[in-house]
Amino acid sequence: MTVLVCVGAGFIGSNFVRLRLREHEDEVVVLDKLTYAGREENFHDFSDDPGFRFVHGAIEDPQAVAGALEGGEEHPIEAIVNFAAETHVDRSIAEPDAFVRTHALGTYVLLEAARTLLKGAPHGGGRAGERGLRYVQVSTDEVYGSIEDGSFTEDSPLRPSSPYSATKTGADLLVASYFHTYGLPAAICRGSNNYGPYQYPEKLIPLMILNALHGDPLPVYGDGMQVRNWIHATDFGRAIGHVLEHGEPGEVYNAGGPDECPNIEVVRRIIELTGAEESLVEHVTDRPGHDRRYSLSSEKVRALGWEPRVRFAEGLEQTVAWYRENAWWWEPIRSGDYREYYERQYGRSLQA
Ligand code: NAD
Ligand code: DAU
Repeated sequence: MTVLVCVGAGFIGSNFVRLRLREHEDEVVVLDKLTYAGREENFHDFSDDPGFRFVHGAIEDPQAVAGALEGGEEHPIEAIVNFAAETHVDRSIAEPDAFVRTHALGTYVLLEAARTLLKGAPHGGGRAGERGLRYVQVSTDEVYGSIEDGSFTEDSPLRPSSPYSATKTGADLLVASYFHTYGLPAAICRGSNNYGPYQYPEKLIPLMILNALHGDPLPVYGDGMQVRNWIHATDFGRAIGHVLEHGEPGEVYNAGGPDECPNIEVVRRIIELTGAEESLVEHVTDRPGHDRRYSLSSEKVRALGWEPRVRFAEGLEQTVAWYRENAWWWEPIRSGDYREYYERQYGRSLQA
């Protein structure tokens, strides 16, 4: 399959591209704007793969999208997977504008490009492969809001809380409208909290690992009893692949991890795995509008044959080991603009 991955230079996108090249031998074209979160370093082990092509550009730029879609007659694009997003909730609270642009305008431009590609295809998709062009929107459990007990299904009401989740919800609704109105064969895959290698250290797990390794304080928002449903990025990547290959157009599929854990427990486990001092834990002002708990029911994607493979305890241990062994990856981040972000967000500097 020839897949256009928008985008592949971030955390989950690069893990997905690696899986598709290695396990499926797909041809992959990556379109990415390379924001602070998108890094060519994430291609380090597959940039020479003959099946891989990178196009630098934004999804809200129709010319960049058209350039990425030009695959030639031999290798027409058969699928578009849209990972592109501003993804950090705290940044969406401080500066929502990029979230609106990428999620609303960017998704619209990609959907229009997909619609044009489909219209140009004989029999509504022959050129785009046997099953027709496929479009998968990568989304999040945050569109459902917070849940005290039980788990969200795909039919749960959409009640997003932050500018991040509200604009992701808007993108999902736009995708659904292109299926209903134009018949675009699009599906949506909503994941729970991802973790694993190559995650930018603004997010809870890599931030706590790197702070613990450097002896910096571990900033826990509020009481730390917020619960997240952790999924390893390779498990989420495989779920997206399942939706791409076996999902029904017009459907939504939740992909939640096998384990839930309160934040303070995640931090304690990281302290154990890094050998840091417990006294580094510092309870700080809570995030405004902080969702208390996320939990996804994934029965529908399981029915397609997907199962998560990595339990949280094992995945967290591997993730801590990866950050320990790959200072080449995070040192340029921790010594660059990230330091300024950290000072703005936490009101203090990183020590080392
Ligand atoms: P990330 O922050 O690591 O990477 C985002 C990527 O998007 C970067 O490569 C960046 O350069 C690129 N990008 C941003 N705006 C762009 C634009 N306008 N045009 C082109 N490229 C652009 O993101 P991630 O955590 O890997 O998340 C990927 C997707 O998965 C997002 O859609 C996110 O909503 C969703 N998701 C994330 C999680 C999670 O826990 N991280 C969980 C569920 C769903
Ligand atoms: O649920 C899926 C979502 O998971 C994705 O859609 C988002 O893109 C992704 O960023 C993530 O959102 P969260 O807000 O849940 O992730 P984050 O890593 O920012 O925070 C996880 C929890 O940890 C949350 O309850 C806030 C808390 N936290 C986070 C940071 C960065 C802290 O207590 N201290 C921190 O310094």
